[in-house]
Amino acid sequence: MLSNIHASVKDSLESFGHKHTHLMAAFCLYGAYTVGSTALNWSWRFFKTFLRPGKNLFKRYHGGYIVITGGTDGLGLGYAREFAAKGFNLVLIARNPVKLASVKVELTREHEGIDVKVIEFDFNKPYTAEGYKPLKEELDKIEDISVLINNVGTLDTGNFNDLSINIINSMIQVNCIPQIVLTKYLLPRLLQRSKEQKKRTAILNISSASNYIRLAGSSIYASTKSFNKTFSDVIGKEYGKYIDVMAVIPGPTVSNLVSDNAPLVIQPEVHARWVLSDLGYNTETFGHYKHWMFTNIFGLPLLGTQFAKMRKSFVKSQNKN
Ligand SMILES: NC(=O)c1ccc[n+]([C@@H]2O[C@H](COP(=O)([O-])OP(=O)(O)OC[C@H]3O[C@@H](n4cnc5c(N)ncnc54)[C@H](OP(=O)(O)O)[C@@H]3O)[C@@H](O)[C@H]2O)c1
Repeated sequence: MLSNIHASVKDSLESFGHKHTHLMAAFCLYGAYTVGSTALNWSWRFFKTFLRPGKNLFKRYHGGYIVITGGTDGLGLGYAREFAAKGFNLVLIARNPVKLASVKVELTREHEGIDVKVIEFDFNKPYTAEGYKPLKEELDKIEDISVLINNVGTLDTGNFNDLSINIINSMIQVNCIPQIVLTKYLLPRLLQRSKEQKKRTAILNISSASNYIRLAGSSIYASTKSFNKTFSDVIGKEYGKYIDVMAVIPGPTVSNLVSDNAPLVIQPEVHARWVLSDLGYNTETFGHYKHWMFTNIFGLPLLGTQFAKMRKSFVKSQNKN
């Protein structure tokens, strides 16, 4: 019975092939193209993830100051440590003066010769020229800024109806406004440094895997992270000739927002190291390969639903009001 079916399918295919030789050739070509391009794509991904050496960033950006919003904890501190280890000077902006002072002491003790400046500023407020004046004045005093890292962000999860207007407002404020204001302040200087002094500059915009996987319970957070990513992509198109603009798409990273029992979680320094190895090459990076895996695995509809249920166990709530 089975052999009869097999023979009849074979006959039909052969007679189809004889009658439609052009169509068969097109099918074969399309198949070869799909297999070839997938193989190339995976080889390229493998090469750039595991084999391609990072650029010499100190040489590429001619040293200078790295401005990091939210540079005293989590991912921001990871970037601060990695850039400090490469010999860059730092400007760290955050709220807590005690943490700012202790991070400054730690970094200057561990990396002799670098200068660490700290600016105390709370981004959880609407933009007004007057309100942001102290920050602008401090930034204006700093000569030779080479890299801006728009990192500061906050996270609260819950179905939309369960999020208070205060929490929503806070997430939009902290995750979106500083990125725009800091870029507005510093972009002219970064452009000038790059064009006139021939010293290349960079802007890193920290988005999130939530930009792609958009789970239930993350309506506002994921929207703000899409904002970060979209803004990054567009200014990259406008100024990429002079400034390395890169959107960063982290998955779970141990911090004040995410605990160490999250799936595929990594430490902030590891995250930063992998991101910096892509800087100067890419306009977007997941950083560590685990975060690429995270986005692809939990981006699948079924697993995404499971993840949405798990998230409460490792996301640390920030706002209580
Ligand atoms: N952790 C993750 O798994 C993960 C994954 C994807 C994307 N991200 C993104 O990575 C970025 C950093 O997150 P994180 O997890 O590293 O957060 P974190 O551990 O909470 O660190 C936040 C940093 O920002 C500062 N900060 C927070 N609110 C501030 C405010 N209103 N004004 C000024 N500074 C403020 C904090 O300093 P103070 O203590 O002084 O306030 C701290 O230095 C965010 O944009 C987040 O969306 C994180």
